[in-house]
Amino acid sequence: MTIQEIFNTAINKGIEADFRGREGIEKLLARKREKFENLSTEKKEEFNKDSLNNPYSDSQILHIASDKDIKRILVGIDIEPAEVLLAKELGNIDLIISHHPLGKGLANFYEVMELQCDALNQYGVPINVAEGLMKERISEVARKYNASNHQRTIDAAKLLNFSLMCLHTVCDNLAAKFLKDKIEQTKLERIEDLIRLLKEIPEYREAMKIGVGPKIFVGSEENRCGKIAVTEITGGTEGSPKLFEKMTQAGLGTVVAMHMSEEHKKEAEIANLNVVVAGHISSDSLGVNLLLDEFEKQGIEIIPCSGFTRISRVEK
Ligand SMILES: [Fe+2]
Repeated sequence: MTIQEIFNTAINKGIEADFRGREGIEKLLARKREKFENLSTEKKEEFNKDSLNNPYSDSQILHIASDKDIKRILVGIDIEPAEVLLAKELGNIDLIISHHPLGKGLANFYEVMELQCDALNQYGVPINVAEGLMKERISEVARKYNASNHQRTIDAAKLLNFSLMCLHTVCDNLAAKFLKDKIEQTKLERIEDLIRLLKEIPEYREAMKIGVGPKIFVGSEENRCGKIAVTEITGGTEGSPKLFEKMTQAGLGTVVAMHMSEEHKKEAEIANLNVVVAGHISSDSLGVNLLLDEFEKQGIEIIPCSGFTRISRVEK
């Protein structure tokens, strides 16, 4: 596979698993293109044209060192210059994939958070409430990552001649869809049943060995789950803490999250919303694994690094 084919496959899989559905994504892209067409020449220059075809601002090809057939990929949750040096030491690495966004993928990553509005709306939160609260949170996240050293790892990849891409929301979408399907297919009564279900997933089983398996952040094992929402797995990063109250008002009982800050946890507690944290790096690994299976099927070798646990679901 070429780098572009790998990237296109990733975007396509991300769209397939997206809570908004392919139709929803097409509609969004069409609207964006129309808005772009109406811009002045000056504004068009400034516009991020990638976004007209790629709905995931945090998933980008960052550098192509040589456009060869990809046979071996180094994949990590966070790629920093250290991992680029590691690629050089290992040798024969054709491409490096970072899960967490880098470069322009990091600078614009807040844009993907919009998908949380639709996800919340599907769970019954009125769209006006979801949009209003998310708008505030998205601008906060945009400012937070504005000051990062965005190009650091990309510069290292350029100096050492490595192709590099980041695949964030495309993978998180796969993890979210996988968890949502599993949860909806099983009759879960109490939080302990939900925890048990999560612990059957190999990525979480591995995480348990180092003490970061699924955990109850709010609620207790005996609590009834009520309606379970998988709204904190994809969509960039944590949404607005003010949304938890709105979620319980919409009839939700439990939220499954990748991770949760103290501020968010407190708000969930006030709202009486159970919170089960599946695990951050383990959930990231789950999503990345579901995508990498597509590349493994094409005969590509995967070298995991930087916290990533490779678990293949390819039938052998
Ligand atoms: Fe992550």
